Amino acid sequence: MDLDSAIRRRRMCRNFLSRPVPPEVLDRLFEGARRAPSAGRTQGWAFVVLEGHDQTSLFWSTDADPAWVAQPDHPGVLNAPVIVLPFCNRQAYLDRYAAPDKAAAGLATEEAWPAPYWLIDTAFATMLLLLGAVQEGLGALFFRLHGDANQLRRAFGVPDGWDPIGAVALGWPAHQNRPTRPRPLRPFGEVVHRGGW
Ligand SMILES: Cc1cc2nc3c(=O)[nH]c(=O)nc-3n(C[C@H](O)[C@H](O)[C@H](O)COP(=O)(O)O)c2cc1C
Repeated sequence: MDLDSAIRRRRMCRNFLSRPVPPEVLDRLFEGARRAPSAGRTQGWAFVVLEGHDQTSLFWSTDADPAWVAQPDHPGVLNAPVIVLPFCNRQAYLDRYAAPDKAAAGLATEEAWPAPYWLIDTAFATMLLLLGAVQEGLGALFFRLHGDANQLRRAFGVPDGWDPIGAVALGWPAHQNRPTRPRPLRPFGEVVHRGGW
């Protein structure tokens, strides 16, 4: 599939079959994601990958959207055979920009950063994951976390210093999957300002 088709076809999926995703398919997705750009090539991201009912149900019992869990007859998102938790590491960026080759950038302290690149880079890597999912014929949903980050770290043995940015449900889309409420794309001219705003 070419990139343009993947970009145009990508929609969040909220209804999955429980059929497992082969490990080699997941490996391809993460091979893509780890090639994301990153400030100073810090690559300050990591993914916890939960596969199968035992692991995903531990996630849902640790951090669940009450609206989804309240609908046991409509498993939708809860059916997803894979949950990916992308984590970012702020300190990795501060350390990287304290290195001699980056000292001139003046970004060795958090206050100096124009934007939290640890979040940006991890979001870029997660976007590659979403696009890779389209190429594989998988459905994916990026969604917010609802619980406490410490509890999530404890449940999955995540070291301190790694902060979750959200979660991705992955799996084969169920036939009855419907895209999100039709909220139109903002007009091109409202978004793109050539030569100035
Ligand atoms: C940062 C972010 C957070 C989101 N959080 C949720 C969420 O908690 N629950 C959900 O169902 N969808 C969530 N979404 C999906 C958006 O609703 C969806 O991307 C948007 O409606 C556009 O639809 P599309 O991605 O299918 O084009 C989130 C998307 C982003 C980028």
